[in-house]
Amino acid sequence: DIKAIILDLDGVVTETSEYHFQGWKRLAEEEGISFTREDNEQLRGVSRSKSLELLLGDYIDNYTKEEFQEMMDRKNGYYQEYLTEMGEEDLLPGARELLDEIKERGLKMAIASASRNAKTVLKGLDITQEFNTISDGYSVENAKPAPDIFLHTAKKLGVKPEECVVLEDAESGVDAALAADMVAVGVGPKERVGHGDYRFDSTADINLTEFLDNLK
Ligand code: BG6
Ligand code: MG
Repeated sequence: DIKAIILDLDGVVTETSEYHFQGWKRLAEEEGISFTREDNEQLRGVSRSKSLELLLGDYIDNYTKEEFQEMMDRKNGYYQEYLTEMGEEDLLPGARELLDEIKERGLKMAIASASRNAKTVLKGLDITQEFNTISDGYSVENAKPAPDIFLHTAKKLGVKPEECVVLEDAESGVDAALAADMVAVGVGPKERVGHGDYRFDSTADINLTEFLDNLK
């Protein structure tokens, strides 16, 4: 039986990818490196350090460890500027209804996000109190696609992995959910999350009641 729903944050509950893009783009411009919206798609669900590695590509050899750290901090500063303007209006369509549905069904509910800003984002959206537990970019060492963050979250909830449904918009997140032996539900296009157990085009398309009833 399904006892818990574990939600990814960026891309499932709210759309922060534009803010991440603006932050990375600003940094890339300052460093004289090209970075397009398309390049940004590869960073979906990917940790901050891995994102910078991808952005730099071969240029990574031109930088010291300290410079790498400084660039991560600089981008995060830009990202956090955008976050100060976040509010309830930044919930993705259907997200509010989804959270209510999970609650009404008596299921446990958690966030498992790669972001070290997850708690700030949840606060901005004013939904922190909705969750039984919140795992973020500080919770585990091995980022998605490793299953660690989901297993850690299940443990905190006191449920078994097979009792969890994961909602994920990123390729690496679906990989992580599958590796954790959870029901992996992709939210987004087939090309990105078609390898999950199930898929919905968007958060607004998730009919949880119908989905869970058919799962049994
Ligand atoms: C994920 C985002 O949720 O968090 C990624 O999808 C982001 O784009 C990652 O890089 C890490 O976020 P942060 O806030 O720790 O830099
Ligand atoms: Mg995501």
